[in-house]
Amino acid sequence: MGELCIQKMGREHIPAVACLDRENRRGDFLPALGGGFLRILYDRFLASGEAFGFVVLEKGRVAAFIIGSEDTRLLFRKVIRSAFIPLGFHAVPRLLSRPTLIKKLWETFSYPEKGSSAGKAELMVMGTYSAFRRRGLGRELVTALNRELSRRGVVDYQVTAKDKNSSANAFYRSLGFVYEGSFRLYNESWNRFSYCFHP
Ligand SMILES: CC(C)(COP(=O)(O)OP(=O)(O)OC[C@H]1O[C@@H](n2cnc3c(N)ncnc32)[C@H](O)[C@@H]1OP(=O)(O)O)[C@@H](O)C(=O)NCCC(=O)NCCS
Repeated sequence: MGELCIQKMGREHIPAVACLDRENRRGDFLPALGGGFLRILYDRFLASGEAFGFVVLEKGRVAAFIIGSEDTRLLFRKVIRSAFIPLGFHAVPRLLSRPTLIKKLWETFSYPEKGSSAGKAELMVMGTYSAFRRRGLGRELVTALNRELSRRGVVDYQVTAKDKNSSANAFYRSLGFVYEGSFRLYNESWNRFSYCFHP
């Protein structure tokens, strides 16, 4: 990776991670709730102990990141309990100006209920700045995630990607994720993949 280095995501990385995620996923639901919302959400993910992440730094700046969870359902429950008011503070003005987002918010928090044959763990979100893509950063981040999940005793996990997100679909397939099926979320088709450490 040359001058790039990978390290465990700390809470100090969250503003840069939220910024990268917003840039990468313009028009998607969660980024539409604003940078403040994402910063609190990802901060509470890390604080919960259920989620963890890694960043790739280039000259000290975040070039790519990944966030995984050991148990997404439990994570969402903890985050709603601990951050309902601050998340609401950031989300409500946007929800009121675009009421269609309310249904999407409900879908987001009921999303872990959609069944998967893989366990409770999940690769929740990842992204590489466009200038750094196809340089192996994503692969390195998934390797780091796998190491951490294994260390925590996880045997398999899932990841989802919009069907139309051809880069992400190709990326997961190339890393050995197995396509499990599709489902609808936010009025779009999504694909579910699983990864098993001992197939
Ligand atoms: C998906 C994403 C994270 C991949 O990150 P990356 O750092 O570019 O990935 P890598 O360089 O490690 O790619 C590893 C392999 O995946 C495959 N791959 C990655 N991007 C691909 C693309 N656009 N088309 C086809 N294959 C691709 C290739 O096999 C690649 O190996 P190669 O470059 O030696 O051929 C990146 O494209 C991204 O940030 N997309 C926008 C955000 C997003 O969709 N996140 C995932 C959903 S949360």
